[in-house]
Amino acid sequence: MNAMTNESISRAKLIDGKAVSAFVREQIKKEAADFKAKTGRAPGLAVIRVGDDKASGIYVRNKMRACDEVGFDSRTVWLPADCGMDEVLRNIEALGDDPSVDGLLVQLPLPCGCDERAAVLAVPQGKDVDAFHSLDAGRLRLAPGRILPCTPSGIMAMLDYYGIDPSGKECVVVDRSDIVGRPMAAMLLAADATVTVAHSRTRDLGAVTRRADILVSAAGRAGLITADMVKPGAVVIDVGMNRNAEGKLCGDVDFEEVSKVASYITPVPGGVGPMTVTMLLRNTMNAAEEAIAKAK
Ligand code: GUN
Repeated sequence: MNAMTNESISRAKLIDGKAVSAFVREQIKKEAADFKAKTGRAPGLAVIRVGDDKASGIYVRNKMRACDEVGFDSRTVWLPADCGMDEVLRNIEALGDDPSVDGLLVQLPLPCGCDERAAVLAVPQGKDVDAFHSLDAGRLRLAPGRILPCTPSGIMAMLDYYGIDPSGKECVVVDRSDIVGRPMAAMLLAADATVTVAHSRTRDLGAVTRRADILVSAAGRAGLITADMVKPGAVVIDVGMNRNAEGKLCGDVDFEEVSKVASYITPVPGGVGPMTVTMLLRNTMNAAEEAIAKAK
């Protein structure tokens, strides 16, 4: 590529998930220190891990490390893959009753034979820091509280950090999952955006995505969002976590080409990823504060 061409291409600004994450974690660290001074204990997160799923091991370690970083107490209860659903439920109940545990989650996926839905529904309200319970979905629509689904709330925090206000904007979410797409759409709607949810059955995806001032893709397909599917000047948020043909981690968006069209873009890695664990810390902090407010 010659110098002329290089200069004539404007590049999207990077939405730096690590920087936003560091900013939010610094606030949480201060709140955790205040909480400890007030109550004599640190906010606490407990994670139940079942079996030997490698990716789960990495995720859980990251969560424990993040807790240490902001001064939370954390613990992992690691159960064998064949422990049975009763044992999983017994542990959820015990940690749910433990006043030093403010946030509790069951790392998914669970091994075959375990009922994930039953596990998610057994986590007591107030400690459900993943916000995966059906009641959280309802609450999000009717009266959002201080514990919100981590990935979408992380995206809202990133938009806020960069001064991007969804109000009145056309937002397109490519994904209808319970963990990302649906709560994302609800949060954008609550922020007064005009929201469209696209999914695997959407006809002419490009025609839909080209309408977006803010485009969020969480489809989990490398290379799904190409430059011709993006409106010039759009904000592009990539939630995808895929491996490309060379085995390299990549999102749903063709980062190189879409960067030439968009105004802002999140990289993968280093975009949405770091925000998910940060919002888990935020939820745990909020749960701890709500627990002591309730106890008064
Ligand atoms: N597995 C992959 N991501 C998550 C998550 O955010 N929470 C839980 N509980 N399990 C997961």
